[in-house]
Amino acid sequence: MSSTDLQIRDDGRLRHFLSTEGLSYGLLNEILDTAESFAGVAEQSVKKVPLLRGKTIVNLFFEASTRTRTTFELAAKRLSADVLNINVNASATIKGETLLDTLRNLEAMHVDMFVVRHSDSGTAHFFARHAQPHVSVINAGDGRHAHPTQAMLDMFTIRREKGADFGRLRVAIVGDIAHSRVARSQIHALNLLNTGEVRIIAPRTLIPAHVESLGVRTFHSLREGLRDVDVVIMLRLQNERMQGALLPSEHEYYQLYGLTEEKLSMARPDVTVMHPGPINRGVEMDSQVADGSRSVILRQVTYGIAVRMAVMSMAMQQNPAQESNA
Ligand code: NCD
Repeated sequence: MSSTDLQIRDDGRLRHFLSTEGLSYGLLNEILDTAESFAGVAEQSVKKVPLLRGKTIVNLFFEASTRTRTTFELAAKRLSADVLNINVNASATIKGETLLDTLRNLEAMHVDMFVVRHSDSGTAHFFARHAQPHVSVINAGDGRHAHPTQAMLDMFTIRREKGADFGRLRVAIVGDIAHSRVARSQIHALNLLNTGEVRIIAPRTLIPAHVESLGVRTFHSLREGLRDVDVVIMLRLQNERMQGALLPSEHEYYQLYGLTEEKLSMARPDVTVMHPGPINRGVEMDSQVADGSRSVILRQVTYGIAVRMAVMSMAMQQNPAQESNA
């Protein structure tokens, strides 16, 4: 069963959130609109809404994470759910039966939702396939496959910075596309939102095979690729997923692909600079750019909470918009 079949209910609403691939324009916009309605919760004196009161959410992280795990936890708490964090030391042998055992044991504790991160592609999908009918699974990053909530918080950031008409935007994603689950999820989301032009900029060794099928324009020169872009998304070199040396050295990578103020001057004057974090300063980007006025990197972290609240509440069929319409 494909991710799309698994993640959408018969009535078209979200059940699990595993991938942005194959979703509809309408559903992506519903996520963004719902996130917008949650964005103000953090400004209230009581930073909580009661939508998931009485629900139990488990953050099951088999791979390191700071931002993603923390913002999922805060999102769950701001929705009034009970949340449990389990950090499992990833080991290549924790697979198959053992993973199923983990799921069954947690289900026996009446968990309603799993937020899963794992270094193997397909783990969240595996959980969704085996979960009981009332249980939802959210993918918090699986191998190099997908990281859909990161992509949606990035779309939310772009919409906040540039407005809702993605059709007039040129967006460039720069760096280690080959190993990046973030890039894959972003490309699908940008295409679904009808972005005017999606570019990827990377050395040949860091571009995935069959990249044309993703509907993007490829550049190997950062300067050329940045020309007139509205948004530039920088990616971290995913050294932990590289097999063998794909780059001469980090220093050379920085010379060619590191974002500096000077290279950024090729882009539109009001360009927005993004990065999912963690940043390697002096490798993919200069500190002056990372901390400069065009960088929205910390805003992305803030928006991550509202977007994760949106996805969690929608998967649990607690959409505030639908409630108020009822
Ligand atoms: C990304 C990830 O884990 O895939 N980070 C994140 O979720 N904030 C990107 C990365 O690790 O470079």
